[in-house]
Amino acid sequence: MKEIEIVIPVLSKDYSELDAVERGLVDAARKATSGAYVPYSHFRVGAAILLDNGVTVTGANQENVAFPSGTCAERSACYYAGANYPDAHFQMLAIASVGTDGRECEPPTAPCGACRQALLEYELRAGHHVPVLLVGRETIYRLPSVASLLPLAFTEF
Ligand code: THU
Repeated sequence: MKEIEIVIPVLSKDYSELDAVERGLVDAARKATSGAYVPYSHFRVGAAILLDNGVTVTGANQENVAFPSGTCAERSACYYAGANYPDAHFQMLAIASVGTDGRECEPPTAPCGACRQALLEYELRAGHHVPVLLVGRETIYRLPSVASLLPLAFTEF
């Protein structure tokens, strides 16, 4: 038997430590939270995806009275990107959130398991790492890839 240790590298930064592209995506994710439809949870999430054609696609969580029919911000964004720009590859993504108190979350919110799985598929389609920015009020976590958020992922059958 041997033990395998899986390490997830996370850089913890503040806004001033981001480059211009990262800042633009953080701004877009924060802005996207305003598109959330959240009459049940009152928890707003915004996702922004930079594509390799230069377009930034955004999404926000959309809830439904039949709860499972709603969808998260990350999936609304990645499915929009996939449907409207099928030939473009993801370059980077950012996720921001506003809590029930109306304040941006701190520490940053991380995507749910289903969204990690959905996003991973687009990283695999891109064929390269897609860095992820998890945006908090003060802290921004930078992960090198979607795969780093989903170790031991199911990727083929
Ligand atoms: N939510 C997201 O939009 N993304 C996530 O990764 C976690 C949860 C949404 C779903 C629901 O509308 C609200 O946050 C509360 O769970």
